Amino acid sequence: MDFSTIDALTSPTLKHLRARWWDDNFTEFLVETLRPRPGNRILDVGCGEGTAEVRIGRLHVSQIRLVGVDLVFDRVKTAKQQAAGHNQRVGFAVADASRLPFQAGVFDSTFCVAVLQHIADLDTAIRECARVTVEGGRVLAVEPDNKARYSYAATAAGTSAFEASVRFFDAVAAARGDAGDPKVGPKLPALFSQHGIEPLDVRLFPVSRVHLGPPPDEVWDRRLDAIAQAMANASTDTVRALGRTYQQALSAYAAEARSAGSSFIEIQNTMLFATVGQKTE
Ligand SMILES: C[S@@+](CC[C@H](N)C(=O)[O-])C[C@H]1O[C@@H](n2cnc3c(N)ncnc32)[C@H](O)[C@@H]1O
Repeated sequence: MDFSTIDALTSPTLKHLRARWWDDNFTEFLVETLRPRPGNRILDVGCGEGTAEVRIGRLHVSQIRLVGVDLVFDRVKTAKQQAAGHNQRVGFAVADASRLPFQAGVFDSTFCVAVLQHIADLDTAIRECARVTVEGGRVLAVEPDNKARYSYAATAAGTSAFEASVRFFDAVAAARGDAGDPKVGPKLPALFSQHGIEPLDVRLFPVSRVHLGPPPDEVWDRRLDAIAQAMANASTDTVRALGRTYQQALSAYAAEARSAGSSFIEIQNTMLFATVGQKTE
């Protein structure tokens, strides 16, 4: 997997970087787990702009019926256009994961990727995924633990920059009123079993990057741009103040990294937790 451009210093989550971590291996894992058979109906809850539908479609799994739902009309519209542009026949609808507009047991498998982390009422959303899935069908959820991101920087200013980035992005999330549990990934087996889904397997997808030697200028530029963009999108006094502190910390880190020479190292790692379950009741 090419995770080289995923950077905790530009975003607290992986959500804006989907195209970079969602590769063929990940799609194959999804398909293998969902066990599509001819005639199967498969539901993608929180389909976003249709990444799953387009990627799964490219594998030419025969005669399955994919349905994607999302809370946001514009995402559904884009997903429809994407699928049509790839000649894929997918059903799309605007719907809330907490009130899925389907009868019980109508899907052979149900999945969601990077959605539950944004939902405040997790119990209802998971219960809905279980309800619409046929008994014995697969339920799959892939979510991160955005609070468990490992980072190491070989200079003191680097450690301060990572700390400043966490404070800044937390303030941005609070200003936006983000709901949901950013740590939901490893909690999925317990949540599944509380709602009639027997956990069968958990697969971890590590997402890592390493800079040995000082990162090139474009990395620092991208980091500074991300701060400016986040400050523009969530402009409160707290966000602005923490943004300026983070900008200063990042500039100090860049200077230290450049002068540290070839032994400089920066390491980042996080994980996606893919929990596979089977509807039991
Ligand atoms: C990070 S995106 C992931 C999109 C897609 N699953 C993917 O991986 O490309 C999260 C999506 O969940 C959707 N979402 C958030 N809350 C939702 C809810 N209650 N019901 C349905 N969709 C929801 C958002 O609109 C957004 O499109």
